[in-house]
Amino acid sequence: MTDPPAAPRPYSPGLEGVIAGETSLSLVDGERGRLTYRGYRIGDLVARGSYPAVANLLWTGDWDPTHHLPTGPIPAQVMTVLRALPETTKPMDALRTAVSAWGATQELPWPPTIEQARAVTSFSPSALAAFARLRAGQEPIDPDPSLELVEGFLYQLTGQRPDIGTARALDAYFIVGAEHGFNASTFTARVVTSTRSDIASAVVAAIGTMKGPLHGGAPSEVVDQLSQMESAESAEAWVREALDRGDRLMGFGHRVYRAYDPRAAALRTVAEGMEHKPDWLERAIEVEDVVLRVLAEKHPERALKTNVEYYAAPVLMGVGLAPDLFPAAFSLSRHAGWTAHALEQAADNRLIRPSVNYIGSAERDLPA
Ligand code: ACO
Repeated sequence: MTDPPAAPRPYSPGLEGVIAGETSLSLVDGERGRLTYRGYRIGDLVARGSYPAVANLLWTGDWDPTHHLPTGPIPAQVMTVLRALPETTKPMDALRTAVSAWGATQELPWPPTIEQARAVTSFSPSALAAFARLRAGQEPIDPDPSLELVEGFLYQLTGQRPDIGTARALDAYFIVGAEHGFNASTFTARVVTSTRSDIASAVVAAIGTMKGPLHGGAPSEVVDQLSQMESAESAEAWVREALDRGDRLMGFGHRVYRAYDPRAAALRTVAEGMEHKPDWLERAIEVEDVVLRVLAEKHPERALKTNVEYYAAPVLMGVGLAPDLFPAAFSLSRHAGWTAHALEQAADNRLIRPSVNYIGSAERDLPA
């Protein structure tokens, strides 16, 4: 007699609530709306840190506020690839392609190292800036190794050193974007690393995952949605119509947060303090209240609050990035987290290979 099949284990669509690993990199406390990197509060890191210091903290566990991380060089072969892309290429596709080409020019033995993490994190801003210039008919600008990563990125993008306020605002955005637990792209990076594949492949896969509008594509859509609401007064009717159509309001809701996303709170403060803030920021703040009220009415069963993408939009717009660069800028910031997770995964590796419940037909004979 054969044993009856084992009872299926509980299945959680989207792996919601499933513990799929252990990390000491960040704590995302969705109920209380708190976020820490290696125990340090995100608000304190934004107020007193810099992106290079935060990346180094994630990679090494050490807090060195003076840590220096410039943008990196673009190998000639990668530049050839960037020049060959059509003008219509989307920035996330260009970034994914550039990292893939970069990986093909490097020795990246397993396990990944902090040096590898630094190298890919500092390469990508140069690649995105070069792509943005090439598509505008301008020549790429070489990195200036004396500049910190965010300042260097803006310099290579515009040809001018940014003013301190602009660099500081984008640096704050990079800090809040750096790491966030087992989100979809980070989980992807860990799956790739768990196969003993290289760090460039992990980052390429993570960029592809972040490209989706449910993950990293939201802030440019926030700008679109706000531009469709003519005024804060007409916002309510627009929001109700959108929800009746079954649309999702970009910049709201989160898989983990049931409280206000602490990254949104930090970025709202940054946006309000910016010298060159977009003129629609005030409307965005008024619209936020309307959206939160209507979402609470329509979804009393699920706390849907503002997420990081909502206030990322005015910060990124305020520093002068074109909206179609927003998801790629988010990806640049998340390089620190992706690569830190690759290091953490490799340090105690087990191939990630979950099970699946089979729901197809019973075993049967092929038709004659
Ligand atoms: N607008 C309208 N309704 C929403 C929204 C939203 N932004 N978010 C969730 N809901 C609704 C869903 O339609 C669902 O309703 P239903 O049960 O009637 O179908 C209910 O709330 C529960 O939502 P879920 O789908 O269970 O939420 P989930 O955890 O899967 O989604 C997500 C999280 C993808 C972020 C979602 O809230 C969303 O699509 N938001 C808009 C896109 C966005 O802002 N993305 C950026 C996320 S932050 C980041 O990745 C860095």
